[in-house]
Amino acid sequence: METIRTVAWMKEHARQARAGNRIVGLVPTMGALHAGHLSLIERAKRECSPVIASIFVNPKQFGANEDFAKYPRAFEIDMQKMEQAGVDSLFAPEESEIYPNGFSTYVNVEGLSERLEGRSRPGHFRGVTTVVMKLLQIVQPNFAYFGRKDAQQARIITHMARDLNLDTEIVVCPLVREPDGLALSSRNAYLSKEERKAALVLYRALEAAKNELTHGVRDAAQLQTSLRRKLESERLATADYAEVVDAERFEPVLKVNKPCYVLLAVFIGKTRLIDNLYVEPKSTGSEELVFHF
Ligand code: PAJ
Repeated sequence: METIRTVAWMKEHARQARAGNRIVGLVPTMGALHAGHLSLIERAKRECSPVIASIFVNPKQFGANEDFAKYPRAFEIDMQKMEQAGVDSLFAPEESEIYPNGFSTYVNVEGLSERLEGRSRPGHFRGVTTVVMKLLQIVQPNFAYFGRKDAQQARIITHMARDLNLDTEIVVCPLVREPDGLALSSRNAYLSKEERKAALVLYRALEAAKNELTHGVRDAAQLQTSLRRKLESERLATADYAEVVDAERFEPVLKVNKPCYVLLAVFIGKTRLIDNLYVEPKSTGSEELVFHF
């Protein structure tokens, strides 16, 4: 695996791959890799050659009071994991490569970026779409892989790719969980032993919502009330939001009668975790539901 540090060399390297008529796959990450990240690489490996992965802890997507400085960094271990997973090239630029002096151009997906995560973390998605647009521009991959763990992020990036006529197909991959149900996240590393136990409340709340849906509940307000009740039952948990939204616009719905996300953002102590459940009618008008959980 080759590690590439500069934009100029990454562009040249990707250009050569494209000239050879190969199918280029890109997996953007912020490092501190876990099985969720690796599942994206595995999928990319099945569909592309070469697979390029990136590690860049993007300062522009962290708010002033967020965890940029203490975000977990494990470069050596990440390199080994990527090598093992069969990544062909790792793009790991310095901040000054991505944001040289005088950088002042941003990409923002209006509307979608202002709700939910965007409301709790102003400017977050503008930072995400700006860096992802740059990565897509530098590598110009055929496919780029994102996880459904960050459902709103994946939706925004798909929307950006459509609005800006990108040649890259955005692939959204399943959410990977720990055996006990906790969604894998680099931020789980912040949790104390006690908080790690408490963090399961997100999974339990979503599981309870799934159960209600299976038993015929379609009313979003009713689902939200029971989600909140469940979250409140955990002493270490403070809900930021618990919402049922349509899977396209991420706007609140009254009833679950189309593709929807049940979305949670919850503080466990000082650590903010997100999780979600995707649900859609089996076919148009059908009472039967299909879940991605
Ligand atoms: P990061 O949090 O490192 O995540 C990189 C990719 O891994 C994202 O597409 C994310 O959705 C996916 N991922 C994380 N946890 C996952 C899980 N449990 N199951 C499946 N996929 C999971 O998301 C970012 O970085 C950044 O915002 C980035 C897109 C790299 C832009 O800076």
